Amino acid sequence: MNARVTVFGTGYLGAAHAACLAEMGCQVLGVDTDSRHTEALARGEPPFFEPGLGDLIRRGLAAGRLAFTSSYARAAAFGEVHFLCVGTPLLPGGNGLDLSQLRACVAALAPLLREPCLVVGKSTVPVGTAAVLAGDLARLAPVGEAADLAWNPEFLREGHAVEDTLHPDRVVVGLRSAHAERVLRAVYAPQLARGMPFFVTDLATAELAKVAANSFLATKISFINAIAEVCEASGADVVPLAEILGADPRIGPASLVPGLGFGGACLPKDILGFVARAGELGVPDALGLLQEVAAVNARCRDRVVGLAADMLGGSVAGRAVGVLGAAFKPGSDDVRGSPALAVAARAHELGAHVTVYDPVAIGKARSVCPELEYAASAVGAAADAEVLLLVTEWPEFADADPEVLGKAVAHRNVVDARHALDPGAWRAAGWRYGAPGRPRVGSGERYHRRLRRVVISLC
Ligand code: UDX
Repeated sequence: MNARVTVFGTGYLGAAHAACLAEMGCQVLGVDTDSRHTEALARGEPPFFEPGLGDLIRRGLAAGRLAFTSSYARAAAFGEVHFLCVGTPLLPGGNGLDLSQLRACVAALAPLLREPCLVVGKSTVPVGTAAVLAGDLARLAPVGEAADLAWNPEFLREGHAVEDTLHPDRVVVGLRSAHAERVLRAVYAPQLARGMPFFVTDLATAELAKVAANSFLATKISFINAIAEVCEASGADVVPLAEILGADPRIGPASLVPGLGFGGACLPKDILGFVARAGELGVPDALGLLQEVAAVNARCRDRVVGLAADMLGGSVAGRAVGVLGAAFKPGSDDVRGSPALAVAARAHELGAHVTVYDPVAIGKARSVCPELEYAASAVGAAADAEVLLLVTEWPEFADADPEVLGKAVAHRNVVDARHALDPGAWRAAGWRYGAPGRPRVGSGERYHRRLRRVVISLC
């Protein structure tokens, strides 16, 4: 499709969406009120780390299909379809989502809309928001009801934004008109041609689809982490247990990796925002489960700090702690809601001397947690450490040589909070190995590995 499309908000979501739409053949104008952001993008330099995105942006710019601006007037005059990708962070105190960026975007754009167009929300919002925005749009736009609104929630994962946008599992569109469906089918024509499921529904169902999906993923992660607590109390091993559960096709292995729990800009805020919205709708009990999901998730961080303290004889105070990882997950430099950084900060609060290394997230980590020490390499973070914590499962940590790191540390103690290491190899190199939900001593491990092979062969 050659549609002229704008994308408001050029953060992780908007920048990826804009670049991918250009790749799909649209003429795209990315819009952001922060001109430093748009200028960096216009030079082909995304101001954050997302694999493959820089190349895609540079390709779109070179082909003349992608440009960036901070001018709403230019965007309004340019676009037939306007995607809204601005942030909806959690309100202070976790009491619902802050919709001020979204409201400001609609309030600034609508009075400039003089031609029929489709405004498409992608930001995550409390159910009912789109209906209100549709009313605002029709009231404020000179073109009135001909400024139509649709909701098209985004399911991309950070670290896989390009792949997830170009090859999504499904596209969900909440609509109010047949015209909106025609426009969005044309935008997503390349994916539709490959047989991608395309769900056409109402605004409220589309809004809910996003938060319900993220709540389910968060619930799965907290479920396995709750089971990890029971494993610790009973001497069972959560790693083979998760594999056994995941082998059931009704359960599946995705989002069943135990360890440090979920973080990032989406899952934590979505479940809290969803709980708050259910309360406003008069059905608080319906989502009581999600409060437990959040509580299990919070405990994961404390349990990892507790494991480190146990290895050091009961406390981290005054001890040297090396931390491998700061990003909320590998493949991203995002430290928003990062469990990795939370563990480092907690150990520091408890009096530990904490040194952190992350392959890409140190700059962002330093601005959020300037009180921590940062190293330029894994060996640097490990230098003289009395315990090493692996908190983001970057491949370079999973592949690290336990002998090399062993020579750097003061004591060979490692807490593998993401189950990324081979315990056998690390123990063989003289490390004391601890991980959430795993037996503390190595004795049962060979037996467990044998058991896992038997179970897999039975399936
Ligand atoms: C998530 C959703 O997956 C995506 O569909 C939505 O659009 C945005 O929110 P993202 O935040 O990028 O995407 O990360 P995701 O890969 O889902 O991981 C979220 C967190 O859960 C990370 O901190 C990750 O480390 C953790 N996680 C994930 C686990 O602890 N265990 C798992 O099995 C999976």
